[in-house]
Amino acid sequence: MARVLVPDAAALREAALAIRRGELVAFPTETVYGLGGDATNDRAVARIFEAKGRPRFNPLIVHVRDAGEARRHVVWSETAERLVAQFWPGALTLVLPRMADCRLSLLCSSGLETVAMRCPSHPVAQALLEQAERPLAAPSANASGAVSPTLAEHVGQSLGERIDIVLDGGACAIGVESTVLDLASSQPALLRPGGVPREAIESLIGPLAVTRPPSARQARRSPGLLASHYAPSQPVRLAAVGVGPDEALLAFGGDVPSGARVTLNLSPAGDLAEAAANLFAMLRQLDRPDVVRIAVMNVPEKGLGAAINDRLRRAAAPR
Ligand code: TXA
Ligand code: MG
Repeated sequence: MARVLVPDAAALREAALAIRRGELVAFPTETVYGLGGDATNDRAVARIFEAKGRPRFNPLIVHVRDAGEARRHVVWSETAERLVAQFWPGALTLVLPRMADCRLSLLCSSGLETVAMRCPSHPVAQALLEQAERPLAAPSANASGAVSPTLAEHVGQSLGERIDIVLDGGACAIGVESTVLDLASSQPALLRPGGVPREAIESLIGPLAVTRPPSARQARRSPGLLASHYAPSQPVRLAAVGVGPDEALLAFGGDVPSGARVTLNLSPAGDLAEAAANLFAMLRQLDRPDVVRIAVMNVPEKGLGAAINDRLRRAAAPR
C-alpha cells in the first residue's frame, strides 16, 4: 500500500530519490494530484501507463521547473513566450514540437511529434522538481477514465496498491486540470478547457481555433478529448431542474430543488472557482450504491464554467 507522507524536508528527499531510481511518486499540484515519474526514463514512463491502465496512444504532460527548462526540450515560439510570461507557473499546458535531440522519453509523446509542457505553481510540485532534478511526466493520479483526485486520499483509493509514495499537500486549490493549448498547429487551438479560462488566453493572443464536438483526428491528437472520461460508476444526468428520491443531486447556486436522496452544492453562492475546487470530490461523494444516478444542475459556460461543464459532459457520456 502507498505511504502517504507529509511533504516535509525528509519526505521530499525520499520522494526525489525514488524519482531518480525510476519509481513513481504521487504529488499535489494546484489543479489535481499527479502521478509523477522521470520523463527522461522510458521504464518510469512505461510504469505510469501501467499503473493507470492508460491507453498507450494517450500522451502525458511533462512538468518542468520553469520556461528555461521547457525550452531545452521543445521548439519554442513567440506565442509560447507571451503565454508563459503571464500564466506560468500555473494551470496552462502548451503542446509544442519536440526538439530534434529531445531527451524526453518518446513514450511521453505516444508517437506524436509534440510534447505537452506545464510548469506547476504548487510549492510541493516545485520542490519535487527541484530536488529530483528531472522533468516529471505526470498524468492525473487516477485510474484511466475515472474521476481525477483532488485529495491525497483519492489517490490512495484508486492507485494505492500500485505506487509507493503519495505526498499529501491537502486539497488542490483549482480542482480541475490544466488548460491544454496546441501551439504546434498553424493557429493555437484549445485541446482541453481547464484551470486557465479560454477568455484569459484569448485576451492575450487573440481567438483560438476550436471545434466541438472534436473530430476523430483531434481526438487522436489529444485523447483527453475522448467522449467518456472522468466517469463515476453511477450514470450522470445533466441539466437537472427537478430531482427524484432515488437520485443524488449535484447542485449549483441558491435555487436548489428538494427531494434528492442526497444533495451536495458545488457553490451555493454561484462562484465558479469554488465550484471547480469542489467538483471532483463531490462527484466521488455522490457516487454511492444507494442512488440510481447523479443528477447535475446547470453551471454557466463562462470562465472556469467551461472546464466544469466539459468534465460533466464527459462524466455523462455513454461509456
Ligand atoms: O492539471 C493537469 O494537467 C494534471 C496535473 C497532474 O498536472 N495532469 C493531467 O494529465 O491532467 P492527464 O494525463 O490526465 O491529461 C493530459 C492531457 C490529455 O488530454 C492528453 O491527451 C493531453 O493532455 N496531451 C498530452 N500530451 C499531448 C500532446 N503531445 N498533444 C496533444 N495532447 C496532449
Ligand atoms: Mg486525467
